[in-house]
Amino acid sequence: MTFDRRVKIAPSILSADFANFGAECQAIEAQGADWVHVDVMDGHFVPNITFGPATCAAIRPHIKGIMDVHLMIAPVDPYIDAFATAGADVITAHLEATPHIHRSLQAIRATGAKAGLALNPGTPASAAEPLLDMVDLVCVMTVNPGFGGQKFIASQIAKVAQLRAMIGDRPIHIEIDGGVDPVTAPLVAQAGADVLVAGSAVFRGGSVHNPEVYGANIRNIRAAAEAG
Ligand code: DX5
Ligand code: ZN
Repeated sequence: MTFDRRVKIAPSILSADFANFGAECQAIEAQGADWVHVDVMDGHFVPNITFGPATCAAIRPHIKGIMDVHLMIAPVDPYIDAFATAGADVITAHLEATPHIHRSLQAIRATGAKAGLALNPGTPASAAEPLLDMVDLVCVMTVNPGFGGQKFIASQIAKVAQLRAMIGDRPIHIEIDGGVDPVTAPLVAQAGADVLVAGSAVFRGGSVHNPEVYGANIRNIRAAAEAG
């Protein structure tokens, strides 16, 4: 996995057809997705349940590129190896999900996966500072995690700019997750984000039988971000 700061669009399969993940992943990649974002929820850390490592392993062969696994689970440590074995390229854990986030990030890197650190909207950028040398990605949640289709929280834009300044030349991605669409994408790209997760704004109006809509949605988000 090579590092660059170009805008990358990472559709979240939370908005895909859950009965058809394999075909959905193939469709979004064929339509221009850079990464595939996989939202794991436990009904405990967040008020919603999705799926676990077995589903990640099942969809892995249908993804040619990066499988970006966002763990919204607590505890996280007992499951890190299982998600790495399932083929995750990036494993992101929430700072708020454990009193021992340093240990969780170490455990992720020990598997060979890239380590991501996710911050809820109420967590300040400064909380990430002592951890930056242990991470490959910081995920700024621009909604409260748990559901797709929520409204973008604009106060997070300043946090992205703070993180971008803190990161400097280090090869660390800034990912935005929640409410990304052609209106909000330029705001976060301008502030320094390079990985844009988008669920509803990518899958809206399309299907595996009508995948060109995914392509148009991805192009619109990318063009807006690059213009920003
Ligand atoms: C929220 C998830 C997001 C979500 C984004 O907890 O982590 O990845 O699917 O969905 P949209 O783009 O619809 O806000
Ligand atoms: Zn996510």
